[in-house]
Amino acid sequence: MQEILRQLEMKRAAARAGGGEKRIQTQHAKGKLTARERLELLLDSHSFEEYDMFVEHRCEDFGMAEQRIPGDGVVTGWGTINGRLVFVFSQDFTVFGGSLSEAHAEKICKIMDQAMKTGAPVIGLNDSGGARIQEGVASLGGYAEVFQRNVLASGVVPQISVIMGPCAGGAVYSPAMTDFICMVRDSSYMYVTGPDVVKTVTQEEVTHEELGGASTHSRISGVADLAFENDVEALAQIRRLFDFLPLSNRSGVPLRPTDDPVDRVEDSLDTLVPANPNKPYDIKELLEKVVDDGDFYEIQPEFAGNIVIGFGRIDGATVGFVANQPMVLAGCLDINSARKGARFVRFCDCFSIPIVTFVDVPGFLPGTAQEYGAIIMHGAKLLYAYAEATVPKVTVITRKAYGGAYDVMASKHLRGDVNFAWPAAEIAVMGAKGAVEIIFRSELDNPDRIEELTREYGETFANPFIAGKRGYIDDVILPHSTRRRLARALTMLKNKKLDNPWKKHGNIPL
Ligand code: HXC
Repeated sequence: MQEILRQLEMKRAAARAGGGEKRIQTQHAKGKLTARERLELLLDSHSFEEYDMFVEHRCEDFGMAEQRIPGDGVVTGWGTINGRLVFVFSQDFTVFGGSLSEAHAEKICKIMDQAMKTGAPVIGLNDSGGARIQEGVASLGGYAEVFQRNVLASGVVPQISVIMGPCAGGAVYSPAMTDFICMVRDSSYMYVTGPDVVKTVTQEEVTHEELGGASTHSRISGVADLAFENDVEALAQIRRLFDFLPLSNRSGVPLRPTDDPVDRVEDSLDTLVPANPNKPYDIKELLEKVVDDGDFYEIQPEFAGNIVIGFGRIDGATVGFVANQPMVLAGCLDINSARKGARFVRFCDCFSIPIVTFVDVPGFLPGTAQEYGAIIMHGAKLLYAYAEATVPKVTVITRKAYGGAYDVMASKHLRGDVNFAWPAAEIAVMGAKGAVEIIFRSELDNPDRIEELTREYGETFANPFIAGKRGYIDDVILPHSTRRRLARALTMLKNKKLDNPWKKHGNIPL
């Protein structure tokens, strides 16, 4: 017995030592924490319950039989974040470069399977040289086992990937199938083929950072939802994000009691929209003023700024917000904003998070770049996502709602449950000038007449009452009471029940 206890302690110590002091120092020298240090920051203290510390790889080739480190390059298990259950894996770069062996993959699969059974999210901390080269196809098989579980878990439990080191080749596809990808600046990168291959094939010279660093993916490709300065900030922010998320698609949204009154009046909102309809204003001011305690958690803040997405709470309960941003491209919808919005709406719908949409949209962005880039299909994603969503949907048109974009942005016709407009709302097929130039083309050589007709068209449509007359708008609300009206609408919708017709799955325009 004594001997077994001694062995147990030795094995535990060996697992905790990872790849050894020298490699840990190298990890620290790169500004990176170790796999275990990261879990300590991510999880509530003393909550981590580790699995599979004694798992070792089964490879005999290329001298691997002599190199076995308990745990095999990944720390797995479960713990809590602010008391709520979460399953985690954290790849240990100090052990074979965090590379994924068959056994390493099995460890990840085990916690994913338990997460599914118990209905709890999975957070993966990725720091890996990819497939364990010595293992060949056994490692590739391991990746595919993880991919399969990512897909089965999608929409059942939230999955978050934090990229904290290399993530290259096919390995990128596991994070790509999770709900949120977060990266750490200057120490993480993601790409399908690295700079050397790029140079050979396309003659382009590019650094790791330029090709797949956090700035690239959070600003240009949109692959990353969030980018953080270092490991410590990343893990603290993941805890914050986690607090907004349901545990599973059966759990409902988490509640955080607040002292912020639901009927809080915000007089400043009455002057948020400028009198000149061509002047922009910052929609984030509205978001911050309606949510509990001003706590708005923006997703993809650096990508497609013409749409703002993120989580907030109203009366303690998580809400997903989608809002056109007049400060960027006048709030037009384009390829990137439609993709960004659609994915977020679908996330909220999967996990029963009510969606509040703030609309100020002059239409779709015109141009060959957009048409050649398939804005038709990408724009349709957002339309499809809203139309398919059965969660409570509350919409507020703050100013413009023009053309197809009016329909797309959670309109009444797409089963918007409660559709409000602010008094400054303009709901029409297009702006007055464009409309008059088309319907009165024969009078274009008479500028006075055109001006008069433009004014007339504007006066007719630059208000919320035409839509109100048809019931497309349920009520015109005063901006200062927006929080109260949203809170009441969401309370009324709490037990909303709506099912789409039975189908295996729809065919969203991908
Ligand atoms: C086995 C690996 C490894 C791997 C790194 N190591 N990657 N061992 N399989 N894939 C080991 C190294 O031998 C080294 O061991 C230790 O990890 C640290 O690696 P270094 O190269 O010293 O670190 P660094 O200089 O920081 O470079 C990191 C790196 C580089 C850029 C990730 O290691 C690298 O290029 N690795 C290979 C990446 C790769 O081609 N992977 C396969 C991709 S294909 P010692 O003992 O010296 O500490 C793939 C397909 C997935 O992943 C397909 C899924 C469908």
